[in-house]
Amino acid sequence: MERKICIAIDGPAGAGKSTVARLVASRLGYRYLDTGAMYRALTWQALQNGLDFVDEPALVNLARTADIQLLPTADGSPQVLINGQDVTLPIRSQQVSQHVSLLAKVPGVRREMVQRQRQLAAGGGVVVEGRDIGTRVLPQAELKIFLTASPRVRAARRAAELADRGEAVDVAQLTEEIARRDAMDASREVDPLRPAPDALYLDCSQMSIAEVVEYIVDRARGVK
Ligand code: DC
Repeated sequence: MERKICIAIDGPAGAGKSTVARLVASRLGYRYLDTGAMYRALTWQALQNGLDFVDEPALVNLARTADIQLLPTADGSPQVLINGQDVTLPIRSQQVSQHVSLLAKVPGVRREMVQRQRQLAAGGGVVVEGRDIGTRVLPQAELKIFLTASPRVRAARRAAELADRGEAVDVAQLTEEIARRDAMDASREVDPLRPAPDALYLDCSQMSIAEVVEYIVDRARGVK
């Protein structure tokens, strides 16, 4: 039987990680784990509960007690439930995007999520997407990709994604928001966004999604 490996895909917002991770998982018959969706679901719940995003104990308590479920769907992107409520769509809203980095920088929140993500990835045969997968969650992953693209390309991709969902977009505002989120994700004290020393660094500004998927699938087959 073919050995099933762990593939870590990290990188900044809008680099195309989700689409790529989903397609790679489908090509290899692997599971797909979207760790950003977990931080987003908690952020949605924190907003819902009216929590203050500087109240770390309250955020940690939420992270420890929330029941988060990522259910596979036919199109590959997960259906996301928190405490039984389907939040698949609302976790992609601008309001959640604008608050998620505040929650994701809280050490106790990360500790809890990292533990859960390791459990979810156990057994291999999984493509895990996030910011700290190669550096913290699965440092032993057999294949690590750091996927990035120029800020302009990333803002344009995010804009197209939101427009697809019928959300009005202001590209200038989006560019600013992405830059702000990247800066926060890269400068936080615990597990900042950065490539693992053994990650393959891939700038996909000039590549199509299909090319990126092919590149990763080829390497996955090479390490199996
Ligand atoms: O990939 P995304 O845009 O859905 O992620 C949302 C936020 O969650 C992102 O701004 C940073 C945070 N995140 C994180 O800190 N660590 C991860 N492993 C995944 C996401």
